[in-house]
Amino acid sequence: MLSVLRLRRLIRQVPLQTSFIFLFLLCILSVFLSSYFLYAVKRKLEPSLTAGHSADDLYVTPSRPLPFLSGVGGTLSSDGTRTDPVVLVFVESPYSQLGQEIVAILEAARFRYRTEISPGKGDMPTLTDGQRGHFVLIIYENILKYVNMDAWNRELLDRYCIEFGVGMIGFFKANENSLLSAQLKGFPLFLHSNLGLKDCTVNPKSPLLHITRARQVFSGPLPGDDWTIFQSNHSTYEPVLLAKTRSAESTGLMHTSVVQDLGLHDGIQRVLFGHNLSFWLHKLVFVDALSFLTAKRLSLSLKRFILVDIDDIFVGKEGTRMKVADVKALVETQNELRRSIPDFTFNLGFSGKFFHAGTDEEDQGDDLLLSYVDEFWWFPHMWSHMQPHRFHNQSVLAEQMMLNRRFAEDHSIPTHLGYAVAPHHSGVYPVHIQLYEAWKRVWDIRVTSTEEYPHLKPARFRRGFIHRGIRVLPRQTCGLFTHTIFHKDYPGGPQELERIIDGGELFLTVLLNPDPCEDKRHKDIWSKEKTCDRFPKLLLIGPQKTGATALYLFLGMHPDLSSNCPSKETFEEIQFFSGHNYHRGIDWYMEYFPLPSNSSSDYYFEKSASYFDSDVAAVRAAALLPRARIITVLSDPVERAYAWYQHQRAHGDPVALKYSFHDVIKASHNAPVKLQVLQKRCLAPGWYATHLSRWLQHYHHDQILVVDGQTLKTDPATVMQKIQTFLGLENQVDYHKILAFDPKKGFWCQLLDGGRTKCLGKSKGQRYPDMDKQSQVFLRSYYRDANIQLSKLLYKTAQVLPGWLREDLLNIR
Ligand code: A3P
Repeated sequence: MLSVLRLRRLIRQVPLQTSFIFLFLLCILSVFLSSYFLYAVKRKLEPSLTAGHSADDLYVTPSRPLPFLSGVGGTLSSDGTRTDPVVLVFVESPYSQLGQEIVAILEAARFRYRTEISPGKGDMPTLTDGQRGHFVLIIYENILKYVNMDAWNRELLDRYCIEFGVGMIGFFKANENSLLSAQLKGFPLFLHSNLGLKDCTVNPKSPLLHITRARQVFSGPLPGDDWTIFQSNHSTYEPVLLAKTRSAESTGLMHTSVVQDLGLHDGIQRVLFGHNLSFWLHKLVFVDALSFLTAKRLSLSLKRFILVDIDDIFVGKEGTRMKVADVKALVETQNELRRSIPDFTFNLGFSGKFFHAGTDEEDQGDDLLLSYVDEFWWFPHMWSHMQPHRFHNQSVLAEQMMLNRRFAEDHSIPTHLGYAVAPHHSGVYPVHIQLYEAWKRVWDIRVTSTEEYPHLKPARFRRGFIHRGIRVLPRQTCGLFTHTIFHKDYPGGPQELERIIDGGELFLTVLLNPDPCEDKRHKDIWSKEKTCDRFPKLLLIGPQKTGATALYLFLGMHPDLSSNCPSKETFEEIQFFSGHNYHRGIDWYMEYFPLPSNSSSDYYFEKSASYFDSDVAAVRAAALLPRARIITVLSDPVERAYAWYQHQRAHGDPVALKYSFHDVIKASHNAPVKLQVLQKRCLAPGWYATHLSRWLQHYHHDQILVVDGQTLKTDPATVMQKIQTFLGLENQVDYHKILAFDPKKGFWCQLLDGGRTKCLGKSKGQRYPDMDKQSQVFLRSYYRDANIQLSKLLYKTAQVLPGWLREDLLNIR
């Protein structure tokens, strides 16, 4: 402080001319400083490959401490509390092969990630949020994109890595233009490219090994002849994988093809691969690198649960069945596997009916297999290998199972199958209740697997679940199909099988462990009674108190349309997609729609007013009924809120009875919780744009019709005409002839024979006092922005603006 005062005094004392000279010198100095940092330092920081060094004349460039680096170390390992567990992956393009493979592994391991196209310059995503880092690890599909990044961004990224202890994984893949030998400029590391390698070993001293084991040697050529090896004598570099060049003699030198940078050079830990992920060992090392560099935050346990089913025992046709030698091979293979996996046991799926149905030699094979009955686990298919979903009657199904059970008892096959996987082809599917019941009754099965889900590929996206106490594992066929009998006949040839084992789908399955109506296979596995025609083609989604019940009644009067059966709990509404009923399954939902007849009235519809503002209804409905039509009735949200409040009072809601409408809509954050809950239920459905846009995310706007609630009240026949066109119904009904205005009710009602009318109950079209002025003013302003948004949305989706909305917009102006 004292020195500042002194300086100010000094400046005041110097003559003006001297001050100018001083200022001028200061400017010159700052120009020099800027140009030094912009050009000199930048050039120093700009790393690229420099040619010219051979493997022999290796020298080490002095390590390049970054300007901001106070010293190496300190924050080397990832600090779990300071970074989000998200991996930032810089890919070459959205379609690049290696980028996709990296993402596939992250997805399969359920690690969160974000991909960015490697920026040529600039565009580094935001890395921190004050004290918190957004990423726990950085991956470069092409490490040269990192090395050659502009100095500014490079410094930003390096600083981030050091401060947050974040590591980096990079791949170096040479192309025909790559220099054969080069130094990674700025790093004491030399690369030699475009090599063919063979005989790979794992460095047992490598600190990152977790899933990868060091003991074995991979003999033979590594895939591809464009490998890069790394060379350095700096202590920061530790080989992870080593291999010989293909031309080397058997005693040839080992070269590093995957290297770990321990962070001793610039404070950042890295793992660099001299090739992509196509070599299976790289996949292992990659998963280990993820774990090591994130201090085990992104780590997979060493446990794997593997059950190998061998299906269709006894089922094969004559000439393709197991003989004595095959059975012996099966036992030997199991013993072989038991050497690495204690107690490993094959799981054999049997259909007793076909026992001894082969040639003499094959029948001897059957006998030998049964003599080893205790060596294996067994699980039942159907007695005659029929697919269980073909049975429509539970007792016939159970009888078939009993036959297989008796066969099992006769041959001492253990029938306590609690741990076993049940019939294959079972199409185990939440709808197949009678199958579950029969299983439980005959076999007491508690574990099974899902249907193959042909549309849900890759298999890593499949999830298991528990249904009615039975655990359903997500099926992983790993590219192995039960119909492949002979090795030589594998589709695409045996080498294709080798490929899926050597780093392919089967390998990854072990390492990492949609709409049923659109899916032929799913339709096949349903019984005949379950057809997609038993689902509604039209959903009336509400919201509450806009006139949806009246519309439901009017639609039901149309000869082409059939409404759902009433529910004991929720009356005319099923409320399937919005709440807990969803977990009762689609069988339960289907029961609300009668079996389809051949008449043209099998155009089912249902109305559940809770769908409109539900967070989940739209996505769920679109998953089951992607082609459905959707109708929403929108009336003035101010009126709607008031009608809803009055409805609650009429139904004796204690909170609504206790508080005035004004109290409800104006309740603050300090108000009693019950009042706040009521307020939300009253006001939130009126944010029409928010809810409607959710439906528009899942349905095309052509599938959605917005009906004006006011017109529905005053002129329902016109509305019904519009709806019939929207639904494309064959019979056009003139609703002027079948509706009549009931002066007593004050609403339009169904016209019955003899001129009588059938109106909605007294809770629809209630009589209550007008809304108070203050509440009106408050709500007009409350819904103003939401209404503006709605008008934009309707305009964009080519919907007609309801009259009340036009009026509201005019008043806003
Ligand atoms: P009020 O009871 O407040 O008058 P929903 O069926 O969606 O819950 O909507 C009920 C509202 O539908 C009623 O609110 C009423 O205004 C309106 N409505 C429209 N046409 C009707 C009709 N023909 N009969 C009875 N109510 C009708």
